[in-house]
Parts: sequence; C-alpha cells; structure tokens
Amino acid sequence: MLYDEQCNFMKFLSCCLILILLATGCGQQNTREPLSMKPDPHSFSNPNEAVVTHLHWKARVDFITKKIDAIATWTIEQKDGTTQIIFDTNDLHVEKVTLDNESTASYELAETAPNLGRALSVKIKSDTKKVSITYKTSPNGEALQWLSPQQAGSASPFLFTQSQAILARSWVPCQDSPSIRFTYDAEVTVPQGLLALMSARNPKEKNESGVYDFKMNQPIPSYLLALAVGDISFRPISNRSGVYAEPSLVDTATWEFADMEKMIEGAEQLYGNYRWEQYDVIVLPPSFPFGGMENPRLTFATPTILAGDRSLTSLIAHELAHSWSGNLVTNATWNDFWLNEGFTVYFEHRIMEKLYGKDYSEMLAMLALQSLRETIADLKNQNAYEDTKLKLNLDERNPDDGVTDIAYNKGYFFLRSIEEKFGRDKFDNFVRDYFSENAFKAMDTEGFIFFLKNYYLTRFKLTIEEDFLNGWIFTEGLPVDCPQPVSDRFDRVNEVIHKWEDTGQLDDAKTSSWSTHEWLHLLKNLPDSLTQSQMEAFDNFGKFTSSGNAEILTAWFTHTIRNGYTKADGELEDFLINTGRRKFLNPLYKELIKTPRGKEKARSIYKKARPNYHFVATNTFDKLLNE
Ligand code: BES
Ligand code: ZN
Repeated sequence: MLYDEQCNFMKFLSCCLILILLATGCGQQNTREPLSMKPDPHSFSNPNEAVVTHLHWKARVDFITKKIDAIATWTIEQKDGTTQIIFDTNDLHVEKVTLDNESTASYELAETAPNLGRALSVKIKSDTKKVSITYKTSPNGEALQWLSPQQAGSASPFLFTQSQAILARSWVPCQDSPSIRFTYDAEVTVPQGLLALMSARNPKEKNESGVYDFKMNQPIPSYLLALAVGDISFRPISNRSGVYAEPSLVDTATWEFADMEKMIEGAEQLYGNYRWEQYDVIVLPPSFPFGGMENPRLTFATPTILAGDRSLTSLIAHELAHSWSGNLVTNATWNDFWLNEGFTVYFEHRIMEKLYGKDYSEMLAMLALQSLRETIADLKNQNAYEDTKLKLNLDERNPDDGVTDIAYNKGYFFLRSIEEKFGRDKFDNFVRDYFSENAFKAMDTEGFIFFLKNYYLTRFKLTIEEDFLNGWIFTEGLPVDCPQPVSDRFDRVNEVIHKWEDTGQLDDAKTSSWSTHEWLHLLKNLPDSLTQSQMEAFDNFGKFTSSGNAEILTAWFTHTIRNGYTKADGELEDFLINTGRRKFLNPLYKELIKTPRGKEKARSIYKKARPNYHFVATNTFDKLLNE
C-alpha cells in the first residue's frame, strides 16, 4: 500500500471504530464494567463470592423491651473456593450462627465503621446452602421507631421501620446493597390485639394468635424490607388496592386516596403492567420522617398528606411510580440514586397529567423548578457544588447526603429534556422498554447511558450527543437549555402578587378556585421581608396560620419566623412537635437558627420534640442544632 492509500485506509479504519463505538454507546464516560464487579461503597457484603437469594425471617416483636428477637435464615449461592459470606449489621446483638440448620458456624463481627455499622463474616463450607443468624435488635436500632400509645396518638403502641438507604441492617442482618435481590417469607409474632404488616402479601385483619405470615415472591433489595405493627384497620379501594390506618383515620384516608385505582391504571397505560399484584398504602403516625416510602405492595405514608381536599395525592402517584422506577429497576448504588428518584418524579408528573390534566402537572413542575434552583444555590453556598451533579460520589459519606432536590428534580428535568428533544412517543417507548428489559435488575448511571443511547440509535437512528448527557449527568448546576414549564394557573397568581406590589391590594376575587399549589406558589414568591401589617394582611387573605395543610404551613412559617410574626408562634411550636417529616422540619429549623434568639427557641422546641422524632430526623437535627 502506498503511503496515501495507507493513510486513507487508516482513516477509514478509525472512522469505522468511531462508528462502532458510537453505535455501542461506548464513549469514554460510559465504558462499563459488568455491574457485578463494582463494589458498593455502602456495603461490606461480598456478593461476587457468596450472595443471598432468599430470606426466611422468624421474629417476635416485644414492645416492653423495644426489641425484636429473630432468626434470619438466608439461602445463599456461592462461588467455588469461597470460604465466607459477609453480611451488614448495625447495632444487632448476634447470639448464634448455624449452617444448614445444624452445625454451628464460626463468625466474626468487625469493629463498627462510621455510617456503615459492623461487617458480620460467617465461615461457610463448599456445600453450605443456608445460613441462620439468631439475634436481637437494639432499642435504638436506627431503622426502628417504637412509639408509646401516647406518641402514636392511639390506645396502642406502634412500631414501624424505615430501611432506605442503609438502615435495614439495623433490624435484619443482610447484604445491604440495592444491587442484591432476594425473595422472602416471614412469620412475625406481635402482642395480641395488634396487626403486623410487611412489604409482602399482607393480612387484612387481626387474628387471635398475634402470629402473621408473609410472603414476597418477587425479588427485592434489602432497602425495601419493611415492617409496621399497631392497631391497624384495612379498607379496600379496588380489588387490588386499599388503605391501612389506625381505626380513627382509616375512613378519612380512604376518602383522600379514592383515585388510587385510577392512578394504577394510568400508570399501567403509560409504562406497563403493575408487577406486584396488590398496591396498598398505610398511613403511619406523624413521626414518620418521610412523606412516603415505596415499600413494595405497601407504601408507607405520612399523615400530613391527609389535607382533606385530595390536594397532596401526587405523593401517592410518586410512591406508586416507584413500583417501576426503583422497585423493578433499582439504582445499583446510592451514587446512582437519581435513577430511582428522577425517573419517579418524571413518572409521577405523567400520572398526574393523565388524571388531572397538563395545567395541574405543570404547576407541580413549576414548583419543582423553583425548588431545584434554590437547592443548587444553597449547595453552591455550602461549598457542596459537586453534589449538584446527577451522578454522585458518596463514598465514605452517609448516603443520606444524596437525598436532595438534585436527584429528584434535576433528574426529572433531565428526563423531560430528552422527552422534549426527540418527542414524547419515542421517550415513552424508551421508558416502557427500559422498565421491562431491566425488570428486577440493578442499573447504574453508566448502564442507563448505554441503554439510552443504544435504544435511540437502534430504534430511531438518532444519536444522543455526549455533550448533552455530560452536561446533565456529570456537570454541576443546571444546563442553560433546561425545560421551562408553563403554567397559566400560576400566571394568574403572579397577577395577584403584581397587583399587590403596585397597589397594596390583595385581590381575592379569584382565589376561591385556587388549589394548594397556587397558594404555595404565592407563598414561595413573596418578598423575604414583610412588615407586620403586610403579614397580617396575607394571613387574613390566605388564613395561613390556621391552615391544616402541612405544605402551606411550612411555607407560611418560613415567613412568620423571618419577619418575627409572633402571632403564629404557638402554631409553629405545635407543628414542630407534632410533625416528624424531615422535609417540613428542615426549612423551619434552618430559618429559626439564623438569629441568636431564634436558635435559642429552636433548641428549646427541639428538646420537647426530639422524643417524637425518628432517627432519620434526629440524625439531621442533632447536627444542625448543635453547630
Ligand atoms: N424513597 C423516597 C424516600 C427516601 C429516600 C427515604 C431516600 C430514604 C432515603 C420516597 O419515595 C420519596 O421520595 N419520598 C418523598 C415524597 C415525594 C413526593 C417526593 C418525601 O418523603 O418527601
Ligand atoms: Zn421517591
């Protein structure tokens, strides 16, 4: 070959190579090792050597000692030459370990590591099929909240768990990584008169014996293990969905969630069959630290969504959507948390759009964008700008640090931007196939990029640019071409604000049709500084101080604290003591500690409130209030 010919041939070869690389999606950012080889920075487990496949859990719940006495029997698979299996534990008292229900195994509990707890290594034989761990939980186990009847606001005590992100290990010794899945069955004994429920096939009523059996036939990761015990009743909504709550609340809750079956049908029409048979919601006592938790078959929910007007049910759409995004296709590690939450917020908005129209879902998107911009500004100020990338680096940190608006709302706007760039039909096909082709598997960010690029290229002959993906996923802040929601309903709220700015008049002619979202938009777009008479005028206008809606109260109290509107102090204190949802407590305590007097007040309220909060909340506020 002549030199020129050689050059051309080389050029041809490199073009081919580039084309192949593009076609297979193997750009530099997304060359990927097989998932199974990547270690999870938040688990000590060794799934590449020995991995769990099924759990049989036999447990007794004791409200007097605040302990669970249990045997966890794990069915395992092991590779040739493996001599041990490693579990995660945290604050567990391990009494005994046996292999295949007979011989006692030797085991070792490592030192406690910050955030992660203690690794439990069990020596196994080459033919070991089952490992049984007999243990007790500690009264302070981080996932567990034991409530006295008084704290539960009932005649009976209450217990619930919160396993996400890495707290399952404080009530079940497990390989606590979201990339490891197992089926489970359980036999749980509770005091007579109480009902036990799990993230599994559930009983619908109490029985005399206090012994309940559970079965979860679909493989789930450990962070979806869940248990609730209390005086709980059930009401059906359809033949595959219903509501559990304390008897005095159950009818109210059933009314509030009346559209649940329609939500499931809407979700199925969008992105494929509901794969978990039953979908129920349990309304927990107020100390539940989250709005909702997507425990499979049984969403755990805060009572603060019972607004009395069905205005906060997008939270149910959100937790239901997790039955696909998260529970079917699961973030491989907590660094990929945006895959769980970003997809879920996107799906949530699509369910709300389908049921209530675009003008409704665009209000949610507007609120999401404003909140996202504020979060990005806050993280920048706190020198945590790195944490505004979708793909996080939480190694050596608590995965809780990744629970910000970035995963949720930047994730949402990223997915929406793909939708807008190439069209909704294509995107919907992609999402449907993404869920079905990766069902019951873990997915990391690089795997998502690979799947996405490959899908658009092979199905639609479309190339998704590397720069576009990098700009969203591996870059801080918000890309300039972030989608902009449009809301006429919020425009009308803006008109009220502008009129007030120009004339001092608050025009209540149109507010009778306002939903919670319009009021929230108003509250979130008022000037920071308001005089006492202006505060008074707004309070009369929206009846905020006496509102029963926790979202509105939180937005309003940030103004009352900032502007020293002491009329609302009693309500503020009651709210902080009686609500355990971190999303509401956080902005209020943060606002309070901005002044020395406020800080004093925050600390004195916290002292009274702390016994009512779950570990997830006290862990956050102990740090915040002791700074
Ligand atoms: N899975 C989350 C809750 C969670 C995240 C618990 C990370 C522990 C660690 C749940 O689906 C969620 O996102 N809840 C939100 C509600 C939602 C409507 C945004 C909440 O609790 O506020
Ligand atoms: Zn979620």
